[in-house]
Amino acid sequence: MTYDYSFFGFVMQQKKGILDQFSEFLIQERPQRIIEIGMGYGGLSIGLALYSYLNNIDYTTYDIELRHGIAERSKEVIELLGKKLIIADIFELEDEMARLYQIDGKVLTLCDGGNKIKELDIFSKYMKPNDIIMAHDYHAVYFPPPVEFINNQPIFAKWPNVDYIPDYSWPFCEVYDSAIQYIIDREKLEKVYAKLFEEYNWVCLMKK
Ligand SMILES: C[S@@+](CC[C@H](N)C(=O)[O-])C[C@H]1O[C@@H](n2cnc3c(N)ncnc32)[C@H](O)[C@@H]1O
Repeated sequence: MTYDYSFFGFVMQQKKGILDQFSEFLIQERPQRIIEIGMGYGGLSIGLALYSYLNNIDYTTYDIELRHGIAERSKEVIELLGKKLIIADIFELEDEMARLYQIDGKVLTLCDGGNKIKELDIFSKYMKPNDIIMAHDYHAVYFPPPVEFINNQPIFAKWPNVDYIPDYSWPFCEVYDSAIQYIIDREKLEKVYAKLFEEYNWVCLMKK
């Protein structure tokens, strides 16, 4: 099992097959703007930028740093498609981000940066009814991070003190139900597309 997957060699930190899930979802939801927080190496970003180009919609990805090598090539591809990569700390752009939600069409926000719960908390405030926000490294129930990897398998220090078996197929758990319930309640969000996305460790929330 590997925790990186690629789009024609452009690495994405996602489970294999995630682009199929996004393809089905985007064709149904037809957002007018996609905002991605956390480009990483850019494999997922290129897939989304290509979708955005083909469908003539707005797409911007943000990252606090541009990694050397493959991420620089990703930037090139994204810009070639007429889409944007902005290198900045997303939390310093709140006013600029807030304005991105003020369009007639649906806005899709992907939280995959350095603090996914904080991203959900802050940017969900600006959503309009039917806008969608998603966050990665999601498991319904929390489990602690693995202490190390051996042969690419996560090894946990000790089993968590709950009757829940960690999901080894994706050992990163940064977003979980009990941590985000206050955001769901405050913003009147509804879980959608759980069947499509939860296996891929994304939670998908629509503003009612
Ligand atoms: C998990 S990686 C993104 C993976 C990518 N979405 C993918 O699917 O391959 C998280 C990224 O968030 C970026 N990041 C961390 N803190 C950030 C911040 N405050 N603002 C913007 N980006 C941030 C990191 O530099 C890193 O590239």
